Amino acid sequence: MTNASAPAFGGNAGMSSQYLEVRDLRVTFDGFTAVDGVDLTLMQGDLRFLIGPNGAGKTTLVDAITGLVPATGSVAKSGVELIGKKVHKIARLGVGRTFQTASVFEQLSVLQNLDIAAGAGRSALTLLRRRGSVSPRIEEALEITGLGHLRDKPAGILAHGQKQWLEIGMLLVQNADVLLLDEPVAGMSHDEREETGNLLRRIGGERTVVVVEHDMDFMRAFATSVTVLHAGKVLAEGTVEQVQADPKVQQVYLGTASAAEPEPTATKETENA
Ligand SMILES: Nc1ncnc2c1ncn2[C@@H]1O[C@H](COP(=O)(O)OP(=O)(O)OP(=O)(O)O)[C@@H](O)[C@H]1O
Ligand SMILES: [Mg+2]
Repeated sequence: MTNASAPAFGGNAGMSSQYLEVRDLRVTFDGFTAVDGVDLTLMQGDLRFLIGPNGAGKTTLVDAITGLVPATGSVAKSGVELIGKKVHKIARLGVGRTFQTASVFEQLSVLQNLDIAAGAGRSALTLLRRRGSVSPRIEEALEITGLGHLRDKPAGILAHGQKQWLEIGMLLVQNADVLLLDEPVAGMSHDEREETGNLLRRIGGERTVVVVEHDMDFMRAFATSVTVLHAGKVLAEGTVEQVQADPKVQQVYLGTASAAEPEPTATKETENA
């Protein structure tokens, strides 16, 4: 446990608790390289936004880290190599992810969804029923996601935002300490986005959170650091300000992330090669 209450730029680097080190990661589909030699270092306490145009390779990068697509290169979590390991093994090592579309069990209650996630292959559901109590881990997830009052409701009746929070809760009960969230606020109302950002801050201090996102306002409000992916490669990395001021990023994002006035610095980029 750390005393970190909120994520900070670059994470808690001083604690030398390096959590995820991606080196020369490559994913190829039938000769097309979707992830093209990506290096990424993520520290505990970092709330890293991963942005980039459609097709940049963001989801594929998350898929590769979580074992859903074959990849070459290296992904080390605190020194343990993940490449080559099976999806469930990677999840058990504490690397959890959500998908672009929420995937909760609609007919089951919020609590049952969390039970199943916590079970992860064991018969926790039966055990919990027999004890007639809720494990502290699940209580904590209910509290942190603000879903406690909905614990007995079927997940199907939850609002869009609440389903995403439940999915994050499901990662928490699995003890994920690296969370990769693929467009968690897509389709959310302004208030839900705000709530989600605050939730990410609450969970982010002691974990590593990567948020794949298109919403630039959301990124500006909550990112502690940003990586820009373009055509499978890391185009830029830094603080929100650094990334926004980067002419390469402005070129790729023209019209999307150009709310900040471009600095008239030496702009001799050859991006559209
Ligand atoms: N299973 C697959 N087979 C072949 N090509 C794929 C496969 N999955 C992704 N791709 C291709 O890889 C590239 C990267 O896709 P990816 O879904 O990772 O992009 P993304 O950055 O997540 O985009 P978006 O912002 O639209 O979600 C795209 O050109 C896509 O068509
Ligand atoms: Mg995607």
